[in-house]
Amino acid sequence: MRPVELKKDIYWVGAVDFDIRNFHHYSRAPEGSTYNCYLVRDEKTVLFDTVDAHSYGEMVKHISEIVEPEKIDYIVCNHLEPDHSGALPRIVKLCRPEKIFCSVMGQKSMTNLYDTTGWPIEVVKDGTRLSIGSRNITFLETRMLHWPDSMVSYLEEDKVLISNDAFGQNIASSFRFADECDRGQLLASMKRYYYNIVLPYSPQVLKTLKRVQDLGIAIDVIAPDHGLIFRTPEDVQFVLDWYRTFAEQKPKLRAVIAYESMWNGTAKMAEAVADGLDAEGVPYALVNLQQQHCSDVMAELADSSALVLGSATRNNMPMVNMMACIAHVKGLRPQNLVGAAFGTYGWSGEAPKIMADALVEMKADVVGEPLKCYFNPNADDLAKCRALGVEVARALKEKCGASA
Ligand code: FEO
Repeated sequence: MRPVELKKDIYWVGAVDFDIRNFHHYSRAPEGSTYNCYLVRDEKTVLFDTVDAHSYGEMVKHISEIVEPEKIDYIVCNHLEPDHSGALPRIVKLCRPEKIFCSVMGQKSMTNLYDTTGWPIEVVKDGTRLSIGSRNITFLETRMLHWPDSMVSYLEEDKVLISNDAFGQNIASSFRFADECDRGQLLASMKRYYYNIVLPYSPQVLKTLKRVQDLGIAIDVIAPDHGLIFRTPEDVQFVLDWYRTFAEQKPKLRAVIAYESMWNGTAKMAEAVADGLDAEGVPYALVNLQQQHCSDVMAELADSSALVLGSATRNNMPMVNMMACIAHVKGLRPQNLVGAAFGTYGWSGEAPKIMADALVEMKADVVGEPLKCYFNPNADDLAKCRALGVEVARALKEKCGASA
């Protein structure tokens, strides 16, 4: 891997992590990820963000191909989560920068995460402009995109937006630009990333998009801190449009059935619910939580507005992967869902009600009664499951029709 010039004297100098699958320790990244950081050479040499601690060597190698790291004057920390700041202590020690810029909340994170004794930290406010020679940088706070400290850096003359977590995707590749990558792969990765990381902050996304529009900022390049860079007018518009779509969460005519079976009875119920959806012409995804991760459920929800949960009852509870799934999905606050719940039981059978209650807490429109079946579904039970699938499909059609 080599550094890549995005525009004159603006370089990608980050790291590609082909190995990572457990992203941020709560989501899956099936295609790996990158930690992007950017070097700008002007009267001042500026490094925007750093990389995860284990990728320090790769970043320094890339920087060294452009300039001696000791020549870095400024470091800008748009966000202090360790995938972007883990290498900060070592690079600060190496290059002894004149200044380290971050937001007010960034300073709080920085000083708590690291021993910053003697670091030349300078806090910038929302809208602060900084001249680095022939270029001006404007810092815009984007609180909660992804942490309270988050901000973006806009290089005015070059019209480059260094956007940190916003507009990212988890793709490890030798490509650096979105226009080099298969469009379907890119969009799927954008959806998985947004729905597993950014989704709860959708109101802030809409606010930020409006603000960018109101400010009349021209953007030639969007350079996120994960994945591929958007450098053509079509791609910049592509990612902005999709972010609006993701954030709006309008109802979509597709369902996700996420289930966890112990001895295959709940799996049979899941298939029968799917048959009911099929009969109504509603597409669906079946996610078996014994085989797939809860972040796969969120990736599927990017295209779906019904969530049907199924689990056998074990020790008076849904099974553990289902419990993890509920915790993950609920925290990400998906909107506009139709919900339903089902599952087998041997003696007590609390799981369907617990799952239905969780869906109510997610503000889903829950249809039907929680459906439970003793041990192994018989023909009558499977007919009830199909009927539940039909009911979900009809409620979803109504929801989608009402929003059209
Ligand atoms: Fe990529 Fe919020 O860190």
